[in-house]
Order: sequence, then structure tokens, then C-alpha cells
Amino acid sequence: MVLFSWIHCFVNVKKRKGRCNEQWHLRIGPNLLSINQSWSADGKGGTSLGFGASVYDAAVLLADYVCMKVCLGGKRVAELGTGTGAVAVQAAVQEPRAREVVATDGDEDLLEGLTRGNLTANMGRVLGEVLDTVKVKQFYWGNEDHLQELGPPFDVVLIADCSAVIYESSFGALVDSIFRLCHASTDVYLSCQERVRGVEAKFFHLLGRKFRVREVPRNDLHKDLRATKELKLFHLRTRRAHTTGC
Ligand SMILES: C[S@@+](CC[C@H](N)C(=O)[O-])C[C@H]1O[C@@H](n2cnc3c(N)ncnc32)[C@H](O)[C@@H]1O
Repeated sequence: MVLFSWIHCFVNVKKRKGRCNEQWHLRIGPNLLSINQSWSADGKGGTSLGFGASVYDAAVLLADYVCMKVCLGGKRVAELGTGTGAVAVQAAVQEPRAREVVATDGDEDLLEGLTRGNLTANMGRVLGEVLDTVKVKQFYWGNEDHLQELGPPFDVVLIADCSAVIYESSFGALVDSIFRLCHASTDVYLSCQERVRGVEAKFFHLLGRKFRVREVPRNDLHKDLRATKELKLFHLRTRRAHTTGC
């Protein structure tokens, strides 16, 4: 069991072991989330698409922001590249309740081996039952069948730490997938950790073609993370947007 700590798993290799492969008790606002992790030293963090088996700081940043600033009540919420499911867990336990929360990832083994269990455990702890409004579904970015299966559009789309260099070949598919999940007034919240500047710039260039991108002011970020300049959070609206949400 590992108590709360801001160890960064991608870069802090020495400290990674023992911080990213065990249960993590993570306080987000009034909620104490319990997230199982299973990072391993295979060069891809223990998952086939890479680094989905532990909670990254960008996920903590996003979960905290959603908890503090985003109204999910009655809305359809999708998360892309959910990994352990930490952000989706926060969305699922948050009051007022979302109408639906769908945690997605391209890695089916990860979803069945880790994510589903994390959602079930946390929903069970909060409600004493597992709600059928909280779902786990495979979505490999760009896969049309997976996309249709989700039943877009969603009112809120969440993405944490999916613009890292190892996913570079999927940037186009990711941006297109986010766009395809949106209606004109969908709120998209995307957090990232800048690691290789040129690569991230490429991602944001693609993103800017389809979305209006606004960086969330650092004062609105979690107080323990706002000083880490590489961690950033963005609010996106599609370029076809013309109305405002809650
Ligand atoms: C760095 S992890 C972030 C996990 C989680 N969002 C977090 O921040 O803790 C990136 C996630 O994206 C998923 N992923 C990578 N490439 C993908 C693709 N082409 N389609 C769907 N998911 C993908 C991985 O399986 C992994 O769970």
C-alpha cells in the first residue's frame, strides 16, 4: 500500500519501483480514491500500448481540476487513454452524478486486468453497488467500430498524458478521435506533461486545427502541482462550437 506521493513515473526511474506498481490511495477533493497499479520494468511500463498501468501526475492534475471546477451532473463523460482509470473513477464518484461515465483505452488487457477493477472497487466503496452508468470500453484511437460502439457525442471528454513521445504515431488519430466524440458545445479537458518539446508542439499543432485551445490558468491547478511547469491543463472546444456549457 502506497500513500499519496507526487513521484513522476515516466522519468523518475529509480523511484518508480514501489510507487507505481501497488495500490495508491489518492485524495482528490473530498474523495479518497483507491487505485491499483501494476507498473513493470519492461520498457513500456507493463502494458502493450505503453505506460497504462500506473497513475501519472497529469491524471492527478486533471482529476483534481474536474473535481474542483467541472460540473458533470447529468452529462455523458468519456475518458480516452484511461490507463488505471483514476480520472474516470473521480468522474464517476463526483456529485452531482454524471449521467454516464465511459472509461476507454486501446489496450483491452489493461481495461480488463486493472481499469475495470479500479472502477468497480471505488464505486462499490462509495455507493455500495456498481452502477450500470459507469462503463469500461475499448477504444483504440481511430478505430471506427470502437468509436461507434461508444455512441458519441459526449458532453465532456477527458484525456490525461496521452501526448507523450511514444504515442507520436497516433497523434493524428487521437486528435480526430477526440473531435469525433464531441458535439458543438462539448467541453474537452486535456492534461499533459511536457517531456520532449518539439513532439508536444506537433501534437498541439494538430489539435489547434480542430479545436480552440485555452490553457487553464496555473492558479486554478492543484496547489501541489502548479509549480511543476511541465504539467499543463487545457480546455478545448471544437472549432464548430458556438454555445457555452455549465
Ligand atoms: C501515459 S498513459 C496515461 C494513463 C492515464 N491517463 C494517466 O494519465 O495516468 C497513456 C494511455 O494511453 C493508452 N494508449 C496509447 N496509445 C493508444 C491508442 N493508440 N489508442 C488508445 N489508447 C492508447 C495507453 O494504453 C495508456 O493507458
